[in-house]
This record gives sequence, structure tokens and C-alpha cells, in this order.
Amino acid sequence: MGELHIIDHPLVQHKISLLRDKNTGTKEFRELVSEIAMLICYEATRDLPLKEIEMETPLAVAKTKIISGKKLAFIPILRAGLGMVDGVSKLVPAAKIGHIGIFRDPDSKAPVQYYCKLPDDISERDSIIVDPMLATGNSAVAAIEELKKLGVKHIKFMCIICSPEGVEAVKAAHPDVDIYAGVMDERLNEDKYIVPGVGDAGDRIFGTK
Ligand code: URA
Repeated sequence: MGELHIIDHPLVQHKISLLRDKNTGTKEFRELVSEIAMLICYEATRDLPLKEIEMETPLAVAKTKIISGKKLAFIPILRAGLGMVDGVSKLVPAAKIGHIGIFRDPDSKAPVQYYCKLPDDISERDSIIVDPMLATGNSAVAAIEELKKLGVKHIKFMCIICSPEGVEAVKAAHPDVDIYAGVMDERLNEDKYIVPGVGDAGDRIFGTK
């Protein structure tokens, strides 16, 4: 059964506060998204299985542990999810990166998939979808559906800020998926933005507004 994990580590909370500041510029915003993604990813990968190996140190042979052959993929939802890739791939450099492009129809707010490029062996990889804002949950639900269609068995969803509505939507459609978030905000506004949130995360990461 999937769970909601709120990563209440002080560093995550502090950096989210800086993200919220309307005076935080593009460069700093992008760096913060990357750092927060790395910190949340640290928790989202906590259950990776380990195996014991022997490693020769300059002094002796140590029995020590490495991650045991789990193959991972990170799947940013375009566009804002791209801002999290740098941070998560620094932590797990062997992971492959797939991309799913979904936009919200401005009128209906329904998700429209316009791009999908995933590793060939995606069905053999544990996948972590990344998107900084889990708002209505429509894009997350659609991205998870796409991965499940391709045979992916273990899927996690990572975001920085979630809304109660988004979490409910993902839980209802995909109760097996764990959600990792830095914080849950109050609500969505009439334009389906998270309040208080950070505004449009894509625009703030890429400086398009
Ligand atoms: N996407 C954003 O960038 N911000 C929100 O608040 C909701 C969706």
C-alpha cells in the first residue's frame, strides 16, 4: 500500500521557505529545486536493497555493503520536473532518465500527453517520477498510468510541494504508489495552483516569466 512521506528535515523545510519567496530569482530557485530534490531523493531511496561485498582497504579486507543491482529510472514530468533531474542524478548517477511531457489543458485542466521517451528496459527498472508540484494530481496519475502500461512494477512519485487534492487523486487512482514530498500546502486556487505554493515552478526554474 502506498504512503505519503513528508520529508520534514530542517534543510528541506528551510530551502522550501526560500523557494516560496517571490524575490528569489531564477538562478537561486533552480539551485534550490535541485538541492531539495537531492534531499528528498535520499529518503525516497532509503529502501534500496543492499548486498555485502568484500573491499580491500589500504589496511585490511572490509565486509561492506553496496546497492544490490537494483536498476532505477527517474522520470521528470516536463517541464518543471527537469529542474529536479540534476539533484537526483547526482545521488544515483547510474539511473537512467526518461521523459514524459504532459501539459494541462488551460480550459479543462485535463492532462494532455505530448511527449514520452523512456529507457528501453523501463519495465525492469524501479521508477521514480519527479515533478516539483503535485497540484490536481492529473499529470501524476497520467504519468503513472503510462509507466504501468509499459509494465513498470515499482513506481514512486517525488515532489517538493503537494496539495491535499493531488495526494488524494494519486492515492485513489494508484494506491500502490508511495509519494515523497517536502510539504503539503493548504489548497488549490481556482486556477489549480497550489496556495501558498511557489507560483509557476516551470516559469521560475527556467525564467520564462
Ligand atoms: N504547477 C505549478 O507550477 N505550480 C502550481 O502551484 C501548480 C502546478
